[in-house]
Amino acid sequence: MSDMSGTEAYSDPEDKEELTAMVCLETDLQDGQMKEVDIGHHSVLLTRCNGKYGAIGNQCTHYGAPLSKGVISGQKVRCPWHGSCFNALTGDLEEFPGIDSLPCHKVKIHNSKVYVSINKKDLRHQKRLQRMGTAVPGVNHTILLLGGGAASLICAETLRQENFGGRIIMVSRDDLLPYDKTRLSKVMNVLSDTIVLRRMEFFHQYGIEVWLQKEAVSVDTEKKTVTFDNGLVQSYDQLLLSTGCRAKVLDVPGTNLSNIKMLETPEDARQIHAACLGSNVVLVGTSFVGTVAALCLF
Ligand code: FES
Repeated sequence: MSDMSGTEAYSDPEDKEELTAMVCLETDLQDGQMKEVDIGHHSVLLTRCNGKYGAIGNQCTHYGAPLSKGVISGQKVRCPWHGSCFNALTGDLEEFPGIDSLPCHKVKIHNSKVYVSINKKDLRHQKRLQRMGTAVPGVNHTILLLGGGAASLICAETLRQENFGGRIIMVSRDDLLPYDKTRLSKVMNVLSDTIVLRRMEFFHQYGIEVWLQKEAVSVDTEKKTVTFDNGLVQSYDQLLLSTGCRAKVLDVPGTNLSNIKMLETPEDARQIHAACLGSNVVLVGTSFVGTVAALCLF
């Protein structure tokens, strides 16, 4: 590798796949520090922990916050917006609410200079899925996930990441795949398709069965079975109950009037948005959801 005096990116003629740039001097970054560097107009977060350098994507996989504005502690980088954590050397996701890992690039030290190489294919991707297995034929151990929200989804993904090869069944009474519920107050006339966390192909690829519009009516923990509203009885080895929470209804006269709406589903959000156009609106609840909904309807 030849020395370079600037941070301009170049393609190594011997490696058509990569873009390499000298990003700083070795002494520019101390242990426990991080900085944003630019490689071919691609923002990368350079980190240093215990003498090791890491180069990971700088854009949080949740809502895209610049991670260089967050905090590095030990081997963890914490996002400044909602607190997702990533491994500072590998980019692996370590804490939610983000669900994807960051791209991870090669770092080399040569003549006390730090070089980062990005695979050109990675230039198109801000997110990375962790390696996952799928269902293994003949493994009948069954894990049943009741509830079709983020908790069930992450449980299913973690099981596949940990090489669980049995059957995973995720059941939801909704008609939609797991979606980002926080979007409902932000974009109220939202198209359902735009807020799903994973598409159906993803579930097929990793052997995760998804049963929609099915409601559990009873659980028999002795026999390890769940009965559904259509009469189906499904046995399980392990059961996860992650049916989420419900908005609190106001216990006052008038709550059943037709222009009183609760915000829980994409359909609720669309109805509220349509009903509010050109009208005065009163929002009950001044926490995050109420405030963001007010902003959206403004
Ligand atoms: S944008 Fe990083 S956690 Fe939300």
